[in-house]
Amino acid sequence: MTADQTTPEAPGPVVIEAESIVKRFGGATAVDDVSIAVRSGEIHGLVGENGAGKSTLMRILAGILTPDQGEVRVDGRPLTGGTRAALDAGIALVHQELSLVPELTTAENIMLGAFPTRLGFTNARQLRGVAATALREIGVSVDLDERVGRLSVALRQFVEIARAVARKPRVLILDEPTATLTPAETDYLLTMLQRLAEGGLAIIYISHRIPEIFRICDRVTVLRDGQLIGTTPIRATTPAALVDQMVGREYKLDLQIRRESTPGEVVLAARGVRAHRVHGVDLDVRAGEIVGLGGLVGAGRTELVRAMIGADIRTAGRVTVTAHGRTRSISSYQSAVRNGVAYVPEERRTDGLALTMSVAENIALPNRRRLATGGVLRRSRVSAFAQRLADSVGLRPPDIRKDAGDYSGGNQQKIVIAKWLGRNPKVIVLDEPTRGVDVGAKAEIHRLIRELADQGTAVLVVSSDLPELLELSDVIHVIRDGRIAGTLSGPEADERSVMSLAAGGGMVGKA
Ligand SMILES: Nc1ncnc2c1ncn2[C@@H]1O[C@H](COP(=O)(O)OP(=O)(O)OP(=O)(O)O)[C@@H](O)[C@H]1O
Ligand SMILES: [Mg+2]
Repeated sequence: MTADQTTPEAPGPVVIEAESIVKRFGGATAVDDVSIAVRSGEIHGLVGENGAGKSTLMRILAGILTPDQGEVRVDGRPLTGGTRAALDAGIALVHQELSLVPELTTAENIMLGAFPTRLGFTNARQLRGVAATALREIGVSVDLDERVGRLSVALRQFVEIARAVARKPRVLILDEPTATLTPAETDYLLTMLQRLAEGGLAIIYISHRIPEIFRICDRVTVLRDGQLIGTTPIRATTPAALVDQMVGREYKLDLQIRRESTPGEVVLAARGVRAHRVHGVDLDVRAGEIVGLGGLVGAGRTELVRAMIGADIRTAGRVTVTAHGRTRSISSYQSAVRNGVAYVPEERRTDGLALTMSVAENIALPNRRRLATGGVLRRSRVSAFAQRLADSVGLRPPDIRKDAGDYSGGNQQKIVIAKWLGRNPKVIVLDEPTRGVDVGAKAEIHRLIRELADQGTAVLVVSSDLPELLELSDVIHVIRDGRIAGTLSGPEADERSVMSLAAGGGMVGKA
């Protein structure tokens, strides 16, 4: 027990502390004199807008980045020596972006980079045993020999966590682990984290979802523009107060009223679509209409939209795009793009962005033809175009000359969305459009999606964020086991009706 009476919510001794950390990238200060201390058995929330410095601070704790100033201590001893030293000290980080190798199996991924020095194992069978134990510990059953690339995003997320748990950490850092999860999976994860904390683990938990913070955290630290705003026991604050601290101003969480829409002709039509995990789907999206796809992660929504637009192989069925009275079949992704289909994929980091290219280049890439005059791209025109889009999605900092890879996770998502919005597409397919995006940017992206629909674009949205799905969609198809389990619109569409249709098949990935 500790003598510190001011934080009864966190009874254990301090395991890890960072003092006066400063980290600069070029001229910009990503983390500006931040201190944080986390106790054993505590779940410590870390919140802040996109680009606030959360991931950077956590990379410093995990030894991936070296601070320019300040010190990290574990059990009072300074931590130096990079990731290996951090791992040996028992610090495990679950990254914001999935970091597994798709070509390797679950077992191989869990043990990837595991050092026999710490675990005391060397042979393959023992390593497998460790992987199996870690999965059991978090209560998730995944085939150890399945290639990770074939797992649903939710299962991959759980494998990432198993990977961290297999290292027997004393400090577990999770950077937005629920961004890819449905409410049921999130619920499962949060309960699991509470159990791990009860066992004495110190947990640092990053999320943009305020209710999660209030549900599981003992204390919460707020960062803004790289600076420490404060650390507060969760019982001493409120969601509104926390959001105020994050954005530094009074912020009204605007609950949008559903749009009045008068959809036009059918633009995107799918008939009898079959593919991996998709078992026969018919669906239409009209001009000016926003069609939402709800359901659990793993229900086949991503597989469905990818098969529809030719990004993955379709085993049966026909998909057409109709524009200017002409109907064309979509046989490949190229033909989809040619016929005015834009696609904002789920895994933006791998599918959506060229990280070593500038923001301007990334935004210009799919819009080359429009921006070129006589086959020549004019730099000033590209800049003006890219800047306008970057501003409209609220990119921070709004510097389009910087490499996309230098932006925070949420800001990278805004760049991908910006580049497709610029095309003024006939059809836009968005998979989890605001995952990992902060509250302000989210409202902004919703506004942009509505604007596109109002201009006549046919919009198809996959979202696991129920309020988002309900707020955006004119019609919601709930997908379960690769089929449409039900279709909802108007007042009958609410959280309960979507969830009950979605949950008919039970939860994915839970033991
Ligand atoms: N490798 C890098 N090079 C240059 N700048 C970087 C680099 N990594 C981060 N930054 C900058 O540091 C700042 C903090 O980024 P960080 O990723 O820590 O934010 P975050 O709070 O995790 O945001 P998000 O919620 O979007 O994930 C941002 O302005 C970002 O652009
Ligand atoms: Mg981050």
